Amino acid sequence: MSSPRSARTEYVGAVEHYSSPDRRDAVKRRWEEPDLVALFGRALEPLRARAQVHILDIGCGPGTVLELLRRTPAMTDGLPARYLGLDLDVDLLELARQRHADDAGVEFAHGDVRDGIPPGDHDLVVSSGVPWSHLERPDLRRAVQHLFTHTAGRATPTVLVIDVLGRYSLEWIERWAQTRWDYRMSFFATEGEVPHAPMSTYDGVELEAILREAAAAAGVDDVEVARHDRSLVVGRHTMTGAYTVDLPRFRDLVDGLYDPNVRIALEGLRLDLPLADAPEAVLQTHQELAAAWNACLERADAAAVGHDDTHVAAVLEPALADDLHAVEQRFDRGLGIGHSLTAVVTIPGSADG
Ligand SMILES: C[S@@+](CC[C@H](N)C(=O)[O-])C[C@H]1O[C@@H](n2cnc3c(N)ncnc32)[C@H](O)[C@@H]1O
Repeated sequence: MSSPRSARTEYVGAVEHYSSPDRRDAVKRRWEEPDLVALFGRALEPLRARAQVHILDIGCGPGTVLELLRRTPAMTDGLPARYLGLDLDVDLLELARQRHADDAGVEFAHGDVRDGIPPGDHDLVVSSGVPWSHLERPDLRRAVQHLFTHTAGRATPTVLVIDVLGRYSLEWIERWAQTRWDYRMSFFATEGEVPHAPMSTYDGVELEAILREAAAAAGVDDVEVARHDRSLVVGRHTMTGAYTVDLPRFRDLVDGLYDPNVRIALEGLRLDLPLADAPEAVLQTHQELAAAWNACLERADAAAVGHDDTHVAAVLEPALADDLHAVEQRFDRGLGIGHSLTAVVTIPGSADG
């Protein structure tokens, strides 16, 4: 690998963000983290037979993925693993090293995925927090082709988890016509200048096509691709409303539903946003999602009749929040309609063929 292009990145302020107790709000703890643990759990399944799973985490930041991987059934059952985190940002790597200083089999390396991946026999190449969206399309295409070249001829299965920003998220309806735009990380818990960077967004069909083309170009033709949408209504930018006119603060409101001491005005959670031009499947899914979401609110309103605020806040609202989470999960069609779009690519080993 050549030397990385920069050492401190647009993630200025990110150390403070990742160290802040506020970062893990109720939505993160109750929706996003369990969904990611389930996704990583499925990704690890084909690798369970390995004597030791070698994991490479691209854009590892402070090592968040490692903590989630350890909550998967495979790893709680004791599947032995080695983990290598790769990142461009020296400050985040320093935080990662501090957090995992005592962990055996855990290492962090400074590097830019555009320059190639560290040598090694990687079984699972994972990512989370949309690091691949930093890349321009040709760079992503080249880097994933490099990953596929690395997997070609492996006797055992390889799984790649590629995480990008969804193009058609409700958080940025004003940006749906664009596929790379200046993304403000204004949700970071930091004072001072808001970090921002150009980011690429993808719909599911395009991302899968890029991955399949890269696989074919690398001579890997037997790939299985599963796509997932995550945070369909409650992405981080629903806290800022930066890119959608009149976007309700869905995430703050859902966090409030989980607060047993606060009663939330449910009409604020109604999902009724004018959409922009998008493929028919995207528009239809957004409409069905909104109908199912609003139906939950109506049922919750009816159930609250005759109950006092204390009961509604402590019992009915957390139950409503769980129902809304189930709605998000039900509409996970991998179309690129959530904050993040994740492709899980499984390449069976040549010994399986
Ligand atoms: C939002 S953070 C996600 C961190 C972590 N994976 C998580 O889920 O919390 C995105 C990370 O990607 C890293 N990154 C961006 N471009 C990169 C590149 N070209 N090569 C390696 N890492 C990169 C950033 O430095 C940052 O740590």
